[in-house]
Amino acid sequence: MDEKERIMQLRTELHEHNYKYYVLNRPEIGDMEFDMMMRELQELEARHPELADPNSPTQRVGSDINREFTQVEHRYPMLSLANTYNEQEVADFYNSVKKGLGGEDFEICCEMKYDGLSISLTYEDGRLVRAVTRGDGVRGDDVTANVKTIRTIPLVLGNEERRMKNEESAGAVTSAGSGGGVIAPADSSFFILRSSFPKSFEIRGEILMPWSVFERLNAEREAAEEPLFANPRNAASGTLKSQNSALVAGRQLDAYLYYMLGDELPTDGHYENLQVARRWGFKISEGMRKVRTLDEIYEFIHYWDTERKNLPVATDGIVLKVNSLRQQRILGYTAKSPRWAIAYKFKAERERTRLREVSFQVGRTGQITPVANMEPVQLAGTTVKRATLNNEDFIRSLDLHIGDYVYVEKGGEIIPKIVGIDEDSREAGAEPVSFITHCPECGAELVRPEGEAAHYCPNDSGCPPQIKGRIEHFISRKAMNIDSLGPETVDEYYRRGLISNVADLYDIRVDQINGSGNREKSARKIVQGIAASASVPFERVVFALGIRFVGETSAKLLARHFKTMDALAAAPLGELLQVEGIGEVIARSVITYFHTPENLAIISRLRAHGIKMQLDEEQMKVAGDRLSGLSIVISGVFRHHSRDEYKAIIEQNGGKNVGSISSKTSFILAGENMGPSKLQKAEKLGIRIMSEDEFLENYEF
Ligand code: IVH
Repeated sequence: MDEKERIMQLRTELHEHNYKYYVLNRPEIGDMEFDMMMRELQELEARHPELADPNSPTQRVGSDINREFTQVEHRYPMLSLANTYNEQEVADFYNSVKKGLGGEDFEICCEMKYDGLSISLTYEDGRLVRAVTRGDGVRGDDVTANVKTIRTIPLVLGNEERRMKNEESAGAVTSAGSGGGVIAPADSSFFILRSSFPKSFEIRGEILMPWSVFERLNAEREAAEEPLFANPRNAASGTLKSQNSALVAGRQLDAYLYYMLGDELPTDGHYENLQVARRWGFKISEGMRKVRTLDEIYEFIHYWDTERKNLPVATDGIVLKVNSLRQQRILGYTAKSPRWAIAYKFKAERERTRLREVSFQVGRTGQITPVANMEPVQLAGTTVKRATLNNEDFIRSLDLHIGDYVYVEKGGEIIPKIVGIDEDSREAGAEPVSFITHCPECGAELVRPEGEAAHYCPNDSGCPPQIKGRIEHFISRKAMNIDSLGPETVDEYYRRGLISNVADLYDIRVDQINGSGNREKSARKIVQGIAASASVPFERVVFALGIRFVGETSAKLLARHFKTMDALAAAPLGELLQVEGIGEVIARSVITYFHTPENLAIISRLRAHGIKMQLDEEQMKVAGDRLSGLSIVISGVFRHHSRDEYKAIIEQNGGKNVGSISSKTSFILAGENMGPSKLQKAEKLGIRIMSEDEFLENYEF
């Protein structure tokens, strides 16, 4: 077999093993064998770039190239479903379908309503060519590269016959019937491939993050002091919208498909089409059922209302669909949703319990979070005894008193919410909950900045959770990445008086931490790990300082713009506001930070320890001189930045913005509707006209 044939063979086999592992949950080979085949394929593909295939199994690992999503118009708009909340509304739907079909018999397909992110996949000739989010229903984001990393979504549709054998041998064949899939001669897999699925079709479904992945991800984020995702849907959405498909690949998203569209679908039945799609390799819920009567619908709803808690992914209701596509066409659509389908939403689970007391937590930035401590109550399978109360306004709006009976709800959220109180059962003389005036950790008087809902402890340099929190942030992976330390070590060193700010880390000596039971080797490793952080680039140093509201991105913008810590520290408000992407809140926070003497002292100690206080030379060049010596005329209307912003970009990067075209003009930065006289002049003088996109791309802005 030559290498080309081997590549083809490995691709087919890996697609197949992938399907068995992820969709059927029945792997036939071990992880190691799988990895070895994958590695072999990667090596062969590297040697044969001419055989590259965007749908090869190797493409599932993702890439960390940044790109913006392109917007794509949906071939069929992505509508939503009308919601119902009780059995009467379900009966109304059923009766309107009956009436709409003029007494004809009909079947209803009952299925789960998955609570994720809808996606539309387009397949041509059995290959995934595009994956688009719902967007506004008319157009969405092209997220193909990210979706390709989801293992349960087939990149290349498989051999239907082989799949049928797999299912039979596992006893997984459903009672769906043949579903009209084309029966092909067994000896021609090419024919089977061509004849089984339409040349072009769309299949829609939901992208989900399984509960187990969600819980692990949040635990990791908690450890890294990153904000938690409220529910798996937000986590899945944040993941899918990431510009980094390698990150998406690591997040283990899943996908259930529930709607097939196209001109030549296998059968007239929605349910049947999905059973066929399962054989092509798609993950289709096993929980679908075709019924005829209202009672059967209710039975399905009742069964899944409790049983759904055992599913690996989040669901928030049931979807009822008229099964026949012909009947669906008869019923048609309203402006927003089909008349042939409806969603029944499960009630969020709610319990009544008693508020014992309210405690107050202090976060890394000094923000105070009030927490309700309640009598334990069982809710959606877990014991709930604490719930966040957000802030003072929230407590006021509930008119909360100690000892009140409260209603707690757990919808799609992992953190329970107090949604109301039972005022009738309040005892006479109950104390209203009042917000504290002083920090529970250090006693400082709290402040509530104008326009904000949160209270803060202003004692940043003396309040223990703030001190420890800042140090933990400083050492975290995306900041100085000192992974020889963790929250426990920080806590221990703080308690022993070794560290009370980030600069103290660099003064730690091996003999100080050696004595406390640490073996010498690990003590050395810790000290070395701290010293090694001197090589962390300047922009991450800016992020590591923990300036309030300055996240990773704004740290990067500030670092690139000001280039040195001294320039950043000295920047007046006006100049900070000039930086694209930096608004008033961040700018003011930067000023406050650099006007605090303690912070300046810490920075000067960090500098003495060799921490980077400016961009590297390479970065300086890129940051400042990109347009040096160029004189640029701006003309037309722009999409990405305003005209003034382009002027600023040109000037900040060493270029000159000139008003009129002459032979000295380097190029014209042209938006839309550039004036005809300018155009003529440019053509006459042979001056290049550069579009907005070209400009941004050429100079990497
Ligand atoms: S069918 C025209 N089936 O619910 C009908 N949707 O409010 C197309 N969803 O945007 C949708 N599970 O994201 C359908 N089994 C299911 C579903 C489902 C969840 C979502 C979907 C849609 C929204 C409708």
